[in-house]
Amino acid sequence: MKIINTPREMRALSQEWRCAGESIGFVPTMGALHEGHLSLAQAARRECNKFVASIFVNPTQFGPDEDFAEYARPFERDCALLEEVGCDAVFAPAPQDIYGAGGSTASLGARAFVEVGGLSELWEGATRPGHLRGVATVVAILFNVVRPTRAYFGEKDFQQLKVVEQMVHDLHFDLQIVPCETVRDADGLAMSSRNARLSPAERQAALLLSRALRAGVEMAHSGECDTTKLGAAMQAVCSEHPAVEVQYIAVVDAQTLATLPALDGRPARTLIAARVGSVRLIDNVPLN
Ligand code: PAF
Repeated sequence: MKIINTPREMRALSQEWRCAGESIGFVPTMGALHEGHLSLAQAARRECNKFVASIFVNPTQFGPDEDFAEYARPFERDCALLEEVGCDAVFAPAPQDIYGAGGSTASLGARAFVEVGGLSELWEGATRPGHLRGVATVVAILFNVVRPTRAYFGEKDFQQLKVVEQMVHDLHFDLQIVPCETVRDADGLAMSSRNARLSPAERQAALLLSRALRAGVEMAHSGECDTTKLGAAMQAVCSEHPAVEVQYIAVVDAQTLATLPALDGRPARTLIAARVGSVRLIDNVPLN
């Protein structure tokens, strides 16, 4: 497995593969890999001739008060896991390789960003201003450097997936986005790099997020279509533990992410975001 640090080398390798007619699967990550990432890696490995993963903790998607500095960076462990899956190349640039000298949000000055209007302002966008602009921008940069045939994204970050799909469509990127189902621990907790920062008690409390989502699904399956009632029932589950501070619970149209007043047969999704102690978690499930 090659470890590549510069965009120039990554582009050259990708060009060589493309000229040889190879398909390239790509899994962008911020490292601290877990089973969720590995399921994306396995899909890319299975479905493409070559498989590249990137490890880059992207400064532009973190707000000033967020956990950029504390974000775990177990690079050697991540590389060992990717090698086990059969990864061909890890692209691990430094911030200055992606954003120029300085490489941090503070030093960006005049620069181009990718903004997916509408979708990026809802939910995560409203709670974390600038976050989805940072994601769309770095994903566009990574796509331009890696030039993948297919890129794999987890449904756990459902709004991120929708933003990336819209960007690829609107900016005519020549690649296919492959959505992959959320991977959960046996007790239902959605896999996330941030779970490692939960204390045992907080981890127990965090289970209320997936329990609340399941409660919503069960009510919908029993015929409840009023999304205000679904929301209230899910909020009640989360209120069972004082450490869980819900930021939003929303039943939305699965394509536009606009709030649905009632389930009406359109594909719908329930989104949840909550702080559990100092750790912010998100999760979601399909409703029909
Ligand atoms: O989901 C993530 O890990 C990140 O948002 C991504 C897609 C790698 C962009 O930095």
